[in-house]
Amino acid sequence: METSGSLLRIGVVGFGHLGKYLVERILKDGAAVGLTLAFVWNRNSDKLKGLVPDELILGDLSCFADRPCDVIVEVCHPQIVKEFGLHFLSQSHFMVGSPSALADPDLNARLRQAAQQYGRTLYVPSGALWGGQDIQRLSDSGALKGNTGQKALFIRMSKHPSCFRLTGDVLSDWTEGEGMRVLFSGSVADLCPLAPNNVNTMAAAAVAAASLGFTGVQGEIVSDTALSDYHVVEVEVTGPNGFSVHTVRRNPARLGAVTGSATYNSFWSSLLACKGHGGRVYLC
Ligand SMILES: NC(=O)c1ccc[n+]([C@@H]2O[C@H](COP(=O)([O-])OP(=O)(O)OC[C@H]3O[C@@H](n4cnc5c(N)ncnc54)[C@H](O)[C@@H]3O)[C@@H](O)[C@H]2O)c1
Repeated sequence: METSGSLLRIGVVGFGHLGKYLVERILKDGAAVGLTLAFVWNRNSDKLKGLVPDELILGDLSCFADRPCDVIVEVCHPQIVKEFGLHFLSQSHFMVGSPSALADPDLNARLRQAAQQYGRTLYVPSGALWGGQDIQRLSDSGALKGNTGQKALFIRMSKHPSCFRLTGDVLSDWTEGEGMRVLFSGSVADLCPLAPNNVNTMAAAAVAAASLGFTGVQGEIVSDTALSDYHVVEVEVTGPNGFSVHTVRRNPARLGAVTGSATYNSFWSSLLACKGHGGRVYLC
């Protein structure tokens, strides 16, 4: 891989909560861990002024290839993955921060194909998913199969209602103290379009469980007014001969926060792993 000296050049696309966190961390700690910033893009570049050195601000995303870069990180919106994902992979490794975009089977196939064609890695950060590599190994060995009547892989995400960003209006009438409400239960493929900002963890699981895919992984989102301090992510895996795993992760999060605080650190660790893993999809 071509690098700037020995530093890996990172392009950051999006400057919301995650983008700002990653940019600040690269500027502060990057040199110590082998990373440098190549560019930062945000649809409103005024937000970057004073926080990102002027020479690193990219005004027009379609000119991203003018800035040599080793890894492009999308922390923006699934729409940007759709519009630019293939172009990014033609130039660099690509870490897709909004993997719910991969629920679109056509885009998913085209991104996998592009990774292979260009010999570049499509990185999917595990985010708030616990045990992603184990799920991937189980899937690769063909053992990710539920027993009769059981789901092979089921993920439930429970949050305070203020932490959900849904496309429909199923939660518009919530009241403090109402307790638990199951908002959706079904395949991750059907869930992603309803809650694209809330189900990236499930999307990462569906990428790990390639043998099941987005239609084969089951997900549930639950609104719970008791969860004012953290999000809960439960993963249930079942395999042959009575094999089963059930994990419960409590991710500290403020009221209204879509992203749990531990997920920021998880993203940083994921970025540190993006050193090139060939032309394939890689959960990091
Ligand atoms: N993989 C994971 O586990 C995980 C965890 C948290 C967030 N995410 C995803 O990462 C992305 C960023 O998260 P965040 O918490 O920083 O969000 P955020 O809302 O704080 O920031 C998003 C940024 O992207 C911009 N943006 C939004 N829609 C856009 C569009 N259509 N075109 C161009 N720019 C657009 C916004 O202006 C903002 O600057 C989101 O898609 C979110 O769903 C993934």
